[in-house]
Amino acid sequence: MSALTESWLNALPKVELHLHLEGSLEPELMFALAQRNQIELPFKDVEAVRAAYEFSNLQDFLDIYYQGANVLIHEQDFYDLTWAYLTKCKEQNVVHVEPFFDPQTHTDRGIAFETVINGISRALKDGQEKLGISSELIMCFLRHLPEEAAFDTLAMAEPHLDKIIGVGLDSSEQGHPPEKFSRVFAKARALGLLTVAHAGEEGPADYVWTAINDLKVGRVDHGVRSSEDAELMKHLAETRMPLTVCPLSNTKLCVFDDMSQHNILDMLAQGICVTVNSDDPAYFGGYMTENFVALAIDLALDESQARALVQNSIEGAFCGDQRKSEMAALLNGY
Ligand code: ADE
Ligand code: ZN
Repeated sequence: MSALTESWLNALPKVELHLHLEGSLEPELMFALAQRNQIELPFKDVEAVRAAYEFSNLQDFLDIYYQGANVLIHEQDFYDLTWAYLTKCKEQNVVHVEPFFDPQTHTDRGIAFETVINGISRALKDGQEKLGISSELIMCFLRHLPEEAAFDTLAMAEPHLDKIIGVGLDSSEQGHPPEKFSRVFAKARALGLLTVAHAGEEGPADYVWTAINDLKVGRVDHGVRSSEDAELMKHLAETRMPLTVCPLSNTKLCVFDDMSQHNILDMLAQGICVTVNSDDPAYFGGYMTENFVALAIDLALDESQARALVQNSIEGAFCGDQRKSEMAALLNGY
């Protein structure tokens, strides 16, 4: 590791902008919920689940991730899932989070939209009140499904607009470009929602352009393949478009062969607003601290870079200016 220690990185005030709540389902909670809901799991025990987490690409992971989500049935299950994530945030001094959830993963199994959003929102409210962690929730559309299904999901969300700040786009990227969802994103923006989209994770730099130009995103999730397009890199730097980069995810899903090859610090040096995030921590071997530690070990992350990465997350967050000032003060006081 570079001069930065794990304990310094753990205590550093941090902000997470790219986290799938379903991806924070640890095998222990998966088993507990399976038992509570009398659901048969295709794994003998927790160790067997962890042993299955070897992925060669995004789709490999998604297949097992959607299967894991089957244990989530009742409002309390969604509460427990979210609460477990917030508890981890508290341990790692993550002071503000903007998590994603995938309603279609649940509504397509017959779970009511209300069950999902009420469980998550109740935990986020408790997170603010009991742990002091502020949050903004983002609802993602699954891009492997038709745009029509995303419109249906947006309609279900309309009575709950007070609980979400924006919409996002996730799931299988290749072959499902952002522009497939232009109309539903326009409708979401007309409803006052902000927008983000996964782009340039496995998909080409062109998808980053269309996320920006067609979906009018306020942040790009991942975006690491932007480095293949010099014009795009210039545009990202000039506009300070935030990229929510997920280092451990990228190596687990073989976007980069090895952490030493990761381009996050090169992008930072080029003036791009890159941020560090955990994506699906239960599946990829770590939460926020572990992602920072990986950069310290393999890319010799130094203190000024670590601070700049957190500052970028504050800049890219969707919360109000007052909360941003509070977070900047926490960071500067550290
Ligand atoms: N859903 C959960 N994690 C994802 C990722 N890394 N890319 C696309 N969809 C996802
Ligand atoms: Zn993601």
